[in-house]
Amino acid sequence: MNPVIETENLTKIFADKLIAVNNLNLEVEEGSIYGLLGPNGAGKTTIIRQLLGLINPTAGVVKIFGERMTPNSSNLRERIGYLSTNPKFPPKMTPITYLNFIGKLFCLSKSERTSRLSSLIRSVDLLHSASHQIKDFSTGMITRLGLAAAMMNRPDLLILDEPTSGLDPVGRKSTLDLLEELDSKKTILVSSHILSDIERICTHVGIINEGKLIYSGPIKEMKKYIQSNRFRLELEGDMDAFCNRLVSIEGVVDFKRLGEFTLEIRFVSDSPVLKMVLAVLNLIVECGLDLISINSSISSIEDAFLELIEEEESLGFTRAFKN
Ligand SMILES: Nc1ncnc2c1ncn2[C@@H]1O[C@H](COP(=O)(O)OP(=O)(O)OP(=O)(O)O)[C@@H](O)[C@H]1O
Ligand SMILES: [Mg+2]
Repeated sequence: MNPVIETENLTKIFADKLIAVNNLNLEVEEGSIYGLLGPNGAGKTTIIRQLLGLINPTAGVVKIFGERMTPNSSNLRERIGYLSTNPKFPPKMTPITYLNFIGKLFCLSKSERTSRLSSLIRSVDLLHSASHQIKDFSTGMITRLGLAAAMMNRPDLLILDEPTSGLDPVGRKSTLDLLEELDSKKTILVSSHILSDIERICTHVGIINEGKLIYSGPIKEMKKYIQSNRFRLELEGDMDAFCNRLVSIEGVVDFKRLGEFTLEIRFVSDSPVLKMVLAVLNLIVECGLDLISINSSISSIEDAFLELIEEEESLGFTRAFKN
């Protein structure tokens, strides 16, 4: 498979001192939905602006559809749909006039524009506001209009910078639903700092911290890593003896007491899950405790993300020497 997006040692340094993107080697395969995940200031927008050729890299190369992206690559940009974070649209225009204008920019014929904008307005659920001025729109409506505008040219690649930013839970859900419904052949790069959003819609994920890609791979692998190596237990009885013996189980890395009767156990990532759970259950029986609940802790997804970042920070120097 050919990568649709490829960067080689991509680096951006602002004002000769701030390394916003650090030696990034990113590959996004055709047809994948790739989530670029990272905390505020991680460098997501700076990466995206370089992918689009809107700013020049300090070093390194961006290739889109196998061709080098430069500020003059309008032939490549024609095939990309882009939605920026918190987009602004002309307040006096309406979805119809705005999408028609975008269609003209892409040199679509009048009939093509009309059919495309009417189907898009319907699919982003703006039919009832199709001729209302944008100035009266909510953030969710603006985002949906932005998605429609980004898709006007039937792009082969869609790049969305924090499309769920500023949305309430209902707006977030409808935006994610929309993205899920998109043509499965399309390649999408979507940035976010919300792991659960990425987890829901993406096939692949890249975690960015301080401009560096610290994890990249299929979301399934990430989920395996996150979910299989942590379990949350709720117990009843004398916890102390149990806790004392817990760490002696082979494969248990550590545990956290979350409350008087709840704790979270972390196993070595590649340990056989069933064996680990059985060993813990045996210990519960041996210690005469009652098991109230056991589950792989979903809330630890955020923790795992933070842990990866911490791990990266503690490895910082070692990695610098290795690279
Ligand atoms: N034009 C610029 N000039 C100087 N510094 C910049 C510029 N653009 C971004 N930065 C800095 O580069 C770093 C990365 O910023 P960037 O906007 O790419 O992060 P981000 O991951 O998109 O963050 P957010 O989640 O807040 O959108 C930040 O420290 C930011 O202050
Ligand atoms: Mg950003």
